[in-house]
Amino acid sequence: MNVHAAALAKAQRFDERTSVFAGDVIEGLSQPHKRLPPKYFYDAKGSDLFEQITRLPEYYPTRTELAILRERGTQICEALGRDAALVEFGAGSTTKVRLLLERCKFAAWVPVDISGDFLNAQARVLRADFPALDVYPVTADFTAPFALPAAVKAMPKVGFFPGSTIGNFEPHEASSFLHTARKILGDGAQMIIGVDLEKDERVLHAAYNDAAGVTARFNLNVLVRINDELGGDFDLSAFTHRAIYNRERHRIEMHLVSRRAQTVRILGRSFAFRANETIHTESSYKYSLDRFAALAQDAGWKPTASWTDAGGMFSVHALVAEA
Ligand code: AVJ
Repeated sequence: MNVHAAALAKAQRFDERTSVFAGDVIEGLSQPHKRLPPKYFYDAKGSDLFEQITRLPEYYPTRTELAILRERGTQICEALGRDAALVEFGAGSTTKVRLLLERCKFAAWVPVDISGDFLNAQARVLRADFPALDVYPVTADFTAPFALPAAVKAMPKVGFFPGSTIGNFEPHEASSFLHTARKILGDGAQMIIGVDLEKDERVLHAAYNDAAGVTARFNLNVLVRINDELGGDFDLSAFTHRAIYNRERHRIEMHLVSRRAQTVRILGRSFAFRANETIHTESSYKYSLDRFAALAQDAGWKPTASWTDAGGMFSVHALVAEA
């Protein structure tokens, strides 16, 4: 490829991705209650900050889920059919899936993620470490229907959705995700899903307002992205991180609070902020075991088992597709 063609290809990729980002940002900041979709936290910087969050003393979900998978992995495998294709929704770190791959006998691993580059890198590492496993990465937005690779069509299917990522969805979105997953995975499918639990509000508050300020930087990173990728002029020192527990809705809400009245310009548009006005950047829903089981049941999945840690902080559920 000559220099000109390479530049053109790069510009085209940039345009498509960035114009979707721009559309979402403009739409979200034009609402009476300003908001931004949490998926935009995860550029390279944001993914690194999230990795740091998972190691914070206050942030219990990751280490608790890992402990459940490690300690209950054998039981979890016993609940699953053998020689299945494990379809993982989203591809973050491979630490969790490894715990299952080491303990269960899967024929294939099908990680599904919107970021193809990251996905292919993960696939390469897992192929090297599990030579007997067939690895078929699928680049797709897993919240919409997508096709499974032909090679796994005839295998039994097990969905895997760890990390309480489902907590980022509004309840109606969580339900529609489970319906879609049911359709994609097909009759007889099973699902293993990690779900964060309701608990003492002080524990939740600390987990999203860490003393080292990493969550604050993670939250503010979305404004950095708007400045860098869309030419926004957010003054980062004029916004502060806030995370609160909304008891009625069973969710942690992250906001960015405008410290003063100000106007921000993005792509030729102006967005006015009042002092203390917030941008709602994330909801992280917390479930009881029963409320999650009811959600799954309504979406075509029968809960067959669940595992929690001794402190009742986090849960892992096994579901089977209803006929
Ligand atoms: C990746 C969505 C599970 O909700 O706890 C961590 C993201 N936000 N700290 C969560 C997050 C702030 C995380 N999830």
